[in-house]
Amino acid sequence: MRTLTEVKKTLPASWYYEPQQYERELDAIWYRDWICVGRLESLARDGAWFVTTIGKQKIIVTRVSDDRIVAFHNTCRHRGSELCRDDAGQFRNGRIICPYHAWTYSLQGELIATPRRLETDDFELQDYALYPVHADSWGGFIFLNLSATPATGLKSYLAEEAENLKSWPLVNMRSVRQEKMTVACNWKIFWENYSECYHCPKIHPELCRVMPVYRQGVFDPVDLPGWQPQFEGDTGVGRVGDGVRTWTRDGQTSLPVIKGLSDAEIAAGVVFTSITGSMYVVAHPDYVRSVRIVPTGPESIELVVDWLLPAGTEIGASDLERICELARLVIEQDGDVCERNQRGLRSRAHADGVLVPQEYELWRFHEHIRAKLAELAELR
Ligand code: FES
Ligand SMILES: [Fe+2]
Repeated sequence: MRTLTEVKKTLPASWYYEPQQYERELDAIWYRDWICVGRLESLARDGAWFVTTIGKQKIIVTRVSDDRIVAFHNTCRHRGSELCRDDAGQFRNGRIICPYHAWTYSLQGELIATPRRLETDDFELQDYALYPVHADSWGGFIFLNLSATPATGLKSYLAEEAENLKSWPLVNMRSVRQEKMTVACNWKIFWENYSECYHCPKIHPELCRVMPVYRQGVFDPVDLPGWQPQFEGDTGVGRVGDGVRTWTRDGQTSLPVIKGLSDAEIAAGVVFTSITGSMYVVAHPDYVRSVRIVPTGPESIELVVDWLLPAGTEIGASDLERICELARLVIEQDGDVCERNQRGLRSRAHADGVLVPQEYELWRFHEHIRAKLAELAELR
């Protein structure tokens, strides 16, 4: 039983809109944790780059070689000009050239030329490399860490969450569709909504047809009173309904089952990987979907949703729409209730809320936020 056995309060309502609290969370979490910023396949050639935003920081991500990605703050070491103005592009001849006075860096970030600078004896090129940002990847997803000294490497940061999807060939999968959506809510609101299925029966009738257990307001049958295994090897983890194969409107698919999955993974129809606060990946027998949560202010986020298929899988427009349709609908439904939640929290009468027993993941999340804030306070 994982449910909460006593009444727990939520985080203070003001934490969901106060700019100072937002700044504290950027410092304590978004500038210290590993954050996914995209897929390796978006950097198809050496020197290909994109600029990404974490909190208020702009970071350049570029490919140095087949298996090496590097990242830098989008800031020149001369007088601090922004280096890249566009969202993405290709560095020519392995050079990053500042548009202001043409200081020139290698793809690894070393300063290699300062054209027309009048010479002095005490200037050393090696003292002015670009400001580096830690970069690594898991399953083809690029992660950055803005801390000068990350508390852990990416692998231990992801820990067993990455293990959940070990049967899926994520590295060799490609995004076949990306959709973005803005939602007027604090990033924690969206994560909290993702962390409970108490809202599912009312908000997601279409999803409940595919996942009958959700009709009971829980993710997993194990959370229901008196749960008993229903079949050999039943772990009590939620699975698709009888006859349903994947998450589409009708539960059917025209795509092949991805190679390497176990019978249990195929039967389950859905497996989740949750990277607290910033991203979740939902794997089905025929496709994978990732959702990144990008805070854009105290009361706004952008969602970046990618649908992934094994490289080389042919898919026509109607089959692609079939795998996108349900998740898009569910995310829109979630976005709508998150915006309502955000507006309601502004009431002067509402200091905090209360959690119901099946919102145990929210409680864990709140404890996590408190711990991260305390950790940073201790460091200061
Ligand atoms: S600010 Fe970049 S070269 Fe001057
Ligand atoms: Fe939902």
